[in-house]
Amino acid sequence: MGVHWCAMKRRAMKRCGMKSAFFSFLTLFCVAAAAQMPSAGSSNDLRVNAQRINDHLRALSKFGANPQGGVSRVAYSDADLLGRSYVVTLLKDAGLEVRVDAAGNIIGSRAGKDPQLKPLLIGSHIDSVPMGGNYDGDVGSLSAIEVAQVLKEKQITLRHPLEVIVFQNEEGGTIGSRALGEGLDEKRLNLVSQSGKTIREGTRVIGGNPDQLAVVKRQTGSIAGYFELHIEQGGTLEREKIDIGVVEGIVGILHSDVTIEGFANHAGTTPMDQRRDALLSAARFIEKVNQIVTSIPGRQVGTVGWIKVEPSAYNVIPGKVVLGLELRDLDEKKFVGLYDQIRTEAESLGKLNQTRFSFTDPVITHPALTAKSFQKLIDDSAKSRGFSTKVMPSGAGHDAQEIARIGPVGMIFVPSIGGISHSPKEFSRPQDIENGANVLLQTVLAFDARD
Ligand code: GLV
Ligand code: MN
Ligand code: MN
Repeated sequence: MGVHWCAMKRRAMKRCGMKSAFFSFLTLFCVAAAAQMPSAGSSNDLRVNAQRINDHLRALSKFGANPQGGVSRVAYSDADLLGRSYVVTLLKDAGLEVRVDAAGNIIGSRAGKDPQLKPLLIGSHIDSVPMGGNYDGDVGSLSAIEVAQVLKEKQITLRHPLEVIVFQNEEGGTIGSRALGEGLDEKRLNLVSQSGKTIREGTRVIGGNPDQLAVVKRQTGSIAGYFELHIEQGGTLEREKIDIGVVEGIVGILHSDVTIEGFANHAGTTPMDQRRDALLSAARFIEKVNQIVTSIPGRQVGTVGWIKVEPSAYNVIPGKVVLGLELRDLDEKKFVGLYDQIRTEAESLGKLNQTRFSFTDPVITHPALTAKSFQKLIDDSAKSRGFSTKVMPSGAGHDAQEIARIGPVGMIFVPSIGGISHSPKEFSRPQDIENGANVLLQTVLAFDARD
């Protein structure tokens, strides 16, 4: 409370140069409040080492660096393996006991004072999308490691056991975190990931064992909680000049591969009214997805993000198209309803030029709400450092939504410049990263002191 008001005073002074009598009152108020704050040298004074986080970010960005300045470090690639080895060294430097679980997650553990207490988890991921940036996942993973490093340097032992987790293959469907929560079924293990390997094959490549996944799955109620720091990946915080986002919920995501079969034929000799053009149906379908998703109010989004055309030549009418459909919303019923509507429409579209649509079973990542008590801890920690905050939903998927199945979760967002993410142009300012990491540190300490 005291720190919050003092910081507000500083900001108020900067902004509007208020009357000195009011300053005197606030100064007195702050001094009085400070008297009730933990004394110097207490956990409230702890800070992360921002230089170290940024050095680590820069070092990690070398693995899979692309010419555009970002990274292509898709899960199970050589770059991913190198990045993972690098973070293992950081986890060890931070005094953590490091292991790779059967799902391929990297886990650094630290004992707590009270062995009866359930572990507190913090972390994120370091795999990227193809042609991704240097901040998505990396900021949260390296800041979580920094929290452990600070605890080691200050010789602080939490009451709770602490686990710093770098989850595998977040971008391929929150795979590592899902192994702890819902579990990975055969269907999921057989999915082909961006590297070209199946999840099963990839999990072996990174040192996991897909035959032993049962030991990775955790019981609901077996963790004290999970906190994840992440870049916002949208433009709200920057636009509204807010320091810290307090995430209220994370969208659910539905993926389905759509195949459209037509008939490949000569593009010069087949009259326009006798074509079974799969790509023409795909074009109509993409337009229809957009219409259906925007036909109702709300924040739901729908995307066709990739497309493959066969045989893909100037002079051949496309005989087959496969494309990727994605739908997202905080309300699962809503996006499943949209998906059903899209399938029905696809059938009518196919009839227009005698093409046939088929859909793979949808792969769903469930939406999740963060715990209200965790939102408050994050908000209080941010405000105690003088940061402005905003409670907001996450339109991106995160490991936190899988962990929400086994315990309470909280997420901290920092601004993404220009709202750009999943792009080499992704950028978050060092100061914002430092702020977010300090909020993570303070939140962990506050949680540990509370529960
Ligand atoms: C993960 O970054 C996602 O939202 O797809
Ligand atoms: Mn991410
Ligand atoms: Mn991402």
